[in-house]
Amino acid sequence: MSHSDQTSPLTARKSGALAGTARVPGDKSISHRALILGALAVGETRITGLLESEDVLNTAAAMRALDARVERTGDCAWRVHGVGVGGFAQPEAPLDFGNSGTGCRLAMGAVAGSPITAIFDGDASLRSRPMRRIVDPLAQMGAKVVSSAEGGRLPLTLAGARDPLPITYRTPVPSAQIKSAVLLAGLSAPGVTTVIEAEASRDHTELMLQHFGATLVTEPEGRLGRKISLTGQPELRGAPVVVPADPSSAAFPMVAALVVPGSDIVLTDVMTNPLRTGLITTLREMGGLIEESETRGDAGEPMAQFRIRGSQLRGVEVPAERAPSMIDEYLVLAVAAAFAEGTTVMRGLRELRVKESDRLEATAAMLRVNGVEVEIAGDDLIVVGKGHVPGGGLVATHMDHRIAMSALVMGLASDKPVTVDDTAFIATSFPDFVPMMRRLGGDLA
Ligand code: S3P
Repeated sequence: MSHSDQTSPLTARKSGALAGTARVPGDKSISHRALILGALAVGETRITGLLESEDVLNTAAAMRALDARVERTGDCAWRVHGVGVGGFAQPEAPLDFGNSGTGCRLAMGAVAGSPITAIFDGDASLRSRPMRRIVDPLAQMGAKVVSSAEGGRLPLTLAGARDPLPITYRTPVPSAQIKSAVLLAGLSAPGVTTVIEAEASRDHTELMLQHFGATLVTEPEGRLGRKISLTGQPELRGAPVVVPADPSSAAFPMVAALVVPGSDIVLTDVMTNPLRTGLITTLREMGGLIEESETRGDAGEPMAQFRIRGSQLRGVEVPAERAPSMIDEYLVLAVAAAFAEGTTVMRGLRELRVKESDRLEATAAMLRVNGVEVEIAGDDLIVVGKGHVPGGGLVATHMDHRIAMSALVMGLASDKPVTVDDTAFIATSFPDFVPMMRRLGGDLA
């Protein structure tokens, strides 16, 4: 999907106290995985609460192109009839993943274990992102990159392995996408495929594989890591999936309520998998009034309701080891840090450079253009909070949904309005963001 021909700017203005109850859309990571595992399983997978955003719809289309039956049966309700492990058919056209690294990289893993050839492509942002980190382990398993753009980037043609080999792989960086690609390819391999990560990344693939009947063992590895061993060639059976609300999307109304004085909002059904809750931990350390209640779980994924109130925040130091559990939330944390009193130091953010944009540079630029003192020191981001943000800036989105949403959150509480140059990419993860923030009382026009 391309957004290149039209841009839609939007301005956020200082708003009155936010109030009300909202449910942000379904978790993006789980939505991609439900479609891909549903496509690899035998029988029917019924998904409720699927995130119907551009990224996820591109994954649905890709699974269809690989021969799975994927149907929308109602509001966020989907049904997938899978082809079984190794059963994908060769797609007739390139698979277009738009803006989505997750959809593309997980699908590469799934295709690597099938005896077919597929072309992977995406928009300008995805075409600029590294793919060697994915195809290197897949090549060890027997898949082949037939062709690619310079630097191993998209568009890339991948030939799956006829007889995939199980491997033991140490991920070079903590990345759930790398881990998931190897595990998905490992489904077709005889024997045990093992992934070792020095720091644990989100474990939705592992939990869902078990939910679909695979045998998978997770053991601790060192102080922060994990060793995951998957027994190949399982009888993967379709299973119902209930998708909880996405904590990475909840992050935006959450920070908005903290920084707009007097706010009092409730967010329901937010997934609380501990490998995703680093932002909530950090915001509480900053003095954020965040109360959790009604904790429950479904298919291994816990969720809870959160009440968030306007708070006077203070600067904190965020350790590098927390990064995997909040990797997508640093932009909006930087916004909270700008409204705090005192300096916030966020350590170990190298991976932010290879997201939908270079988020380290883009976050610094977003703050700077709105009068906030900010510095990048190596892999660390340092934000000097003065208790208020001057605002008045025009923020460049760089094809990155989370920059657009973070900047708009900032504008709801800054002295002068904040404008983003293009909101179109918000639809990749949170199509309802602008109307939802307006319903809570945000002045966005
Ligand atoms: C994701 C993993 C993370 C994250 C992305 C979603 C996933 O990427 O940034 O938004 O669903 O597996 P990395 O695995 O590259 O860190």
